Formats: sequence, C-alpha cells, structure tokens
Amino acid sequence: MKSIVFFVLLIGSVLSSAACSSAGSDNVEATTTQTATNNEPSNGMMGMGGSMMARHHASIPNEYAGLTNPMPADDASIERGGEIYVTNCASCHGDGGMGDGPAAAGLDPAPAPIAHTSQMLGDDYLYWRVSEGGAMEPFNSTMIAWKTVLDEDDRWDVINYVQALGSGQVMPQQGMGGAAYDPDAEEERQAEMLAEAVAQEVITEEEAVVFAATHGLVDGQMIRNREGASGNMDYRMADALAELVVAGKLTQAQADTFASVHDRLAKAGLMQ
Ligand code: HEC
Repeated sequence: MKSIVFFVLLIGSVLSSAACSSAGSDNVEATTTQTATNNEPSNGMMGMGGSMMARHHASIPNEYAGLTNPMPADDASIERGGEIYVTNCASCHGDGGMGDGPAAAGLDPAPAPIAHTSQMLGDDYLYWRVSEGGAMEPFNSTMIAWKTVLDEDDRWDVINYVQALGSGQVMPQQGMGGAAYDPDAEEERQAEMLAEAVAQEVITEEEAVVFAATHGLVDGQMIRNREGASGNMDYRMADALAELVVAGKLTQAQADTFASVHDRLAKAGLMQ
C-alpha cells in the first residue's frame, strides 16, 4: 500500500505512458447477450459493452432497462424505505448498507455494499436486482427476489433509502449491526486491491497510479449524474468518463486506462 501512495506522487511523470495497450486483447471474449440497446455506452468510445461476467456489467433485461425511479426521494419516501430496509435488508446488507449484516457471514458471493454501489448504478439496474434477486446467471447468489414480497412503490422507496444511506443524507439505524460507508476505509481497501492487482500482474504499477489518481473524479461524476440515471456500471462509467474528457478533466488516454483497468480488475475478481 505504501508503494501505491508513493506512485501517486509520481503521477505526473507517468501519465503519458499509460495508454491501454492490452484492452483489445482482453475484450475478445465478448458475449452476445448484450441485447438492451440502452446498456451500450452512448459514446461508444471504449467498446467495453457486455464483455464481463461481473455483476455490475450484466445486461439489464428489456423489461427493466431504461426505468427511472418514479418516486421522488423526499423525506416520506426515505422514511418508508428505511422501515422496509430495516425489516428486510439489514440482516444481510447491514445497518449501513455495507454488506456486513449478521446473516452475511458465510454467504458466497457476499452481500453487496449497496450503500456505495447504489450511487454508481442506474435506477433500472437497482430495481431489476431488487425485484428479481440473485438466483440466476451471472449472480448465483442468495439475494432475494423481492417482487413477490414488496410492491413496486416499496421497492422504489427502499432504493431511495439505500441511496440516501450511501450519500450520507440519512444515518444508519441501529438494529442489525454493521459499518457505515467510510471513505477512508474505502480508500485503504482500494489501495490494497490495486497493490494485489499489481502483484498478480493484472495491471502495471503505472496503471495503478492512473487508476488511484482518477478514481475519485470518476466516482464523483457518476454520483453527480445519479439522479434519474439508468444503465449498468459500464454504461454509467463510460458516460462519466466521456464527460470528464469533454470537460478537460481527464485526457482520453487516462479515460481509456481507467476503463481498461476497471475491466481487468473486475474480470480478475478483485473488484467488489
Ligand atoms: C439473504 C441475504 C440478503 C437479503 C436479505 C437481501 N440481500 Fe440484497 N444481495 C444479497 C447478496 C448476496 C448480494 C450480492 C450478489 C448479487 O448481486 O446477487 C445482493 C445484492 C443486492 C443488490 C445489487 C447491488 C450491486 O452492487 O450489484 C441490491 C441493489 C440489493 N442486494 C438490494 C437489497 C435490498 C433493497 C434488500 C431488502 C429489500 C436486500 N437486498 C436484501 C443478499 C441479500
């Protein structure tokens, strides 16, 4: 982890060498399951649609693709969502939505840190996942299909609550236990993950530097765009990267490196 911090200091000197030379060869296993057109990055600049099995890159079924939350995220909705969350979700996802409830131990895959991931994923993805659960490819998880238990309004309310939890708008309710989202802990976890990826030769040290230095910017852009957003992680990330390039905050090479690193980390199972 120390070496990552050190390399971040060197960022300026290595950015120019960080083009994504290996992205092409990594993408050859693209699947043909990408059907819903609005899952495709609108700008098409990185060509990363549908090539991964990691859950955030799954194609959203047509039935759900493009939906946005019709329930305004007002106090009433968040309060209703909080009650639903405590009763139905906290046992696995934890009070703070970080995937560490008492029932989480031993679950493989582990409950997702939804307070955080819900900031970055589209409404349609979240609603699909809450509705249909995880007993299918590529998830194969114990995530419950809530559409048989919670009506549509309930499902949108609980999504509003989870997003409010992750943005710090509401405090976790004490009940089941589990941590709140902690940016410092997240930073540390990410530095360790990057060091591990370098050790496994999934990415180079230079790429780790670019990723570490740009991750906050990309996350921030995705969070700013969150309201009314749809699409899976690929789609939303590609949009955010394109905007940052247009705004002059990232170079095209940095954006390409970010996307390529993200892709390889997910494929290597190193990313949550
Ligand atoms: C029995 C444990 C369990 C319960 C209860 C549970 N979940 Fe999950 N959930 C999981 C697991 C495990 C995953 C990760 C694997 C997956 O994505 O299917 C998950 C994933 C998710 C995801 C996808 C997040 C992402 O980053 O892809 C969302 C959204 C979600 N849960 C919301 C909820 C909500 C809302 C409730 C309550 C209404 C709930 N879950 C209750 C186990 C659970």
